[in-house]
Amino acid sequence: MSDNNEKIIVKGNGPLKGKVKISGAKNSALPILAACLLGTEDIILSEVPKLKDIEIMLEVLKSLGSEITYLDDTTIKINSKNINSYETPFELMDKMRASFVVMGPLLARFNKTKTKSPGGCNIGKRPVDLHLKGFKSLGAKTVQDHDEISAVAENGLKGAIIYLDFPSVGATQNIMMAATMAKGETVIENAAKEPEIVDLSNFLTKMGAKIRGAGTSIITIEGVEKLTGTNHAIIPDRIEAATYMIAAAMTKGDVVIENVIGAHIRPVIAKLIEVGATVEESKDEDIIRVKADKRLNGTTIKTLPYPGFPTDAQAQFMALMSICNGESRVKETVFENRFMHVDELVKMGASVLTEGNEAAILGVDKLKGANVKATDLRAGAALVMAGLVAEGETVISDIYHIDRGYSDIVGKFRNLGANIKRVKVD
Ligand code: UD1
Repeated sequence: MSDNNEKIIVKGNGPLKGKVKISGAKNSALPILAACLLGTEDIILSEVPKLKDIEIMLEVLKSLGSEITYLDDTTIKINSKNINSYETPFELMDKMRASFVVMGPLLARFNKTKTKSPGGCNIGKRPVDLHLKGFKSLGAKTVQDHDEISAVAENGLKGAIIYLDFPSVGATQNIMMAATMAKGETVIENAAKEPEIVDLSNFLTKMGAKIRGAGTSIITIEGVEKLTGTNHAIIPDRIEAATYMIAAAMTKGDVVIENVIGAHIRPVIAKLIEVGATVEESKDEDIIRVKADKRLNGTTIKTLPYPGFPTDAQAQFMALMSICNGESRVKETVFENRFMHVDELVKMGASVLTEGNEAAILGVDKLKGANVKATDLRAGAALVMAGLVAEGETVISDIYHIDRGYSDIVGKFRNLGANIKRVKVD
């Protein structure tokens, strides 16, 4: 794992070719690890990706009293029988905003929980009002001040109807988990429909929860007395898959992506075909082959909650658009400040103009290597991809952002023929 003194150096050297295996989904593994706090029996999770964010979530669980045993590289046994705290350590909350998702399970288990206010992050304000609205509807009293957030349900949690003003992924997950052992029925309306919600629901169901409708906008949870141990394999990471698919197309490569579920990345597949790449799906084997042999054409994307185009693939697609024929447009509707990669792409010769949440990209013939900074996780991946097609050397700093969500990105791109390495600098 990286520290602040590591950089990635990429030299553009032609098409990517070969096979790449996608890891388990970070955004599925994180809430599922949090859900392990709900029971007292052994849980075995496989296909857990090796990522910085996962390490932090495991630290959170350990600090609360869970026992964690690695059975192999990507398989973990978790036992939360001896949880002795309902408070998320503030310093871990600072390291990863997504640790907020332990609030729901802790509230379900102890009828109270406390954590640090997560605050904003690089890509926007990211409030947690919808999570708290859900906890309140379930009967908890919530207090949020500058530094901390607490939720207490003195008389236990009770099922309720909760309408989300926006289909927030995190709020849907937190409320689902809180409701698993509440008295009676909870209905989440305008729930998020992401595959990671379905994975969490499948996992909770294996633990004995009664959940219907995950993957649709109405999720119903009937509270049960207790949850049990189980085994579960995390679904493949659709955003990691999208990243390698886009990289294959923009380098005019020929890459076979293994361990990918096409149904989870329909909009990315559609847009790759639209710009002129060939995408072949082999549904039985969870394999997708992406090829391109000519310069791609510009297009338009608009990010939306699932099943729309994922905001988490927007920066990577913009890197592709920066060398397409003609003009492309991007509209970001999920986060208010998700164009931090634009300035860095411009340093590499991209022609991008932004106004509010819209960007116009005029494709250039060639990008050129530059010193750039990964401003967030997906922005960092986009810069690596831009480096793959740039003339000369691209040096990317602040790569700890990339390590949060990409397992061995350097090794995986190198296996596909890229000239890429990580270096330590003093
Ligand atoms: C999750 C993903 C992240 C992805 C995002 C959108 C994880 C760990 N992270 O983040 O990679 O980019 O979904 O697909 O799974 N909002 C509110 N109030 C709330 C909660 C959210 O206004 O209480 C707003 C946010 O500010 C944002 C939008 O809703 O503008 C989407 O956020 P949300 O779906 O909650 O994203 P996360 O769960 O944080």
